[in-house]
Amino acid sequence: MWRKLRHLLIFLLIILKEPNTPEAGCSCSTSTFCQIRPLWFTRRTPCCNCDGQNLTGIPPDLPENIAFLYLGNNKITSFPQNIPKSIGQLELENNQIRSIPPGALSCLLQLVELNLDKNGITNVKPGTFSDHKMLYTVCLSSNNITEIQTGTFSNLPELKRLFLHDNQINQIQPGAFLNLPKLWSLGLRSNRMTSIRPGTFTNLPKLEYLDLEANRLSVLPQSAHGMLPAGIRKIICFEKNPWQCDCRMRPFRLKMTGSAKFENKITCEHPAHLRGQKLKDINPEDLICKETTASTLPFDSHTSSAVSTSSSFASTESTTSPTAHPLSYR
Ligand SMILES: *[C@@H]1O[C@H](CO)[C@@H](O)[C@H](O)[C@H]1NC(C)=O
Ligand SMILES: *[C@@H]1O[C@H](CO)[C@@H](O)[C@H](O)[C@H]1NC(C)=O
Repeated sequence: MWRKLRHLLIFLLIILKEPNTPEAGCSCSTSTFCQIRPLWFTRRTPCCNCDGQNLTGIPPDLPENIAFLYLGNNKITSFPQNIPKSIGQLELENNQIRSIPPGALSCLLQLVELNLDKNGITNVKPGTFSDHKMLYTVCLSSNNITEIQTGTFSNLPELKRLFLHDNQINQIQPGAFLNLPKLWSLGLRSNRMTSIRPGTFTNLPKLEYLDLEANRLSVLPQSAHGMLPAGIRKIICFEKNPWQCDCRMRPFRLKMTGSAKFENKITCEHPAHLRGQKLKDINPEDLICKETTASTLPFDSHTSSAVSTSSSFASTESTTSPTAHPLSYR
């Protein structure tokens, strides 16, 4: 009992220990534990906390071999140039960074986590996040990214978590996520995607969590079914999308077997009389289109190898009325 208490006290003393060397505006620690809001204890030290110091760049006189640097809530307007090469975790959330220069990460060979949430990044150039041996987590949520181009996230053998929530992404080019053998979680919630092209989520063998909630997806063609991670432990968030339960969704519905977990996540928005019903509960024969659309084949069904020929796996015409614009082949 007393031994346990003593251990607890020692532990509390360690975590309450005053930072060792106060730097200009930052507090730095080389003790065993390092707690930096909002991150819990990190064992990567030395670490410095420069939270909300009105900094415009990397402060001078950081400890040697710094492993962890929290620079959140500052006034940094461009990606810092002189980042210590020893850095393992770099937190730059809530600054005003607009772009990441090509090659910015190429000398940061120890970097495992980069957090750029809540900046004003509009564009991530292909290659920015490529060929890095250590990167494990990349956070780019709450920026203004509109498109993810081919090769943007490629050849990252350790990348496990990639967060792109709350951007304005309306287009992900095939091959945007390329050769990411360990990618486990991919967050795309609250974006503007109307379609998912074939090749977008393929070859991600470890992907278990794909968040597509609150996008503008409305139709999934038949070919989509086999491309989505469908294992028993895999989770796809499909909620809050304007799913159109009409003839365009019928081929996909016919592919549904009840075994893929994501099948349960598609709740109809249109037509009105099916609103709120789950697609899986609707008889395929009730998935009908009126007037012009009724005579239009689902756009990827004119060929058996829809994967390689159709350029899109959800209709990009989805936001327009089905009667005004019959679906077109590309
Ligand atoms: C940052 O700047 C604001 C506005 O000039 C000021 O009110 C605040 O005290 C500054 N914070 C620090 C930590 O210097
Ligand atoms: C990012 O988007 C927000 C919301 O749409 C907008 O208010 C802001 O001005 C944009 N910032 C940049 C840098 O484009």
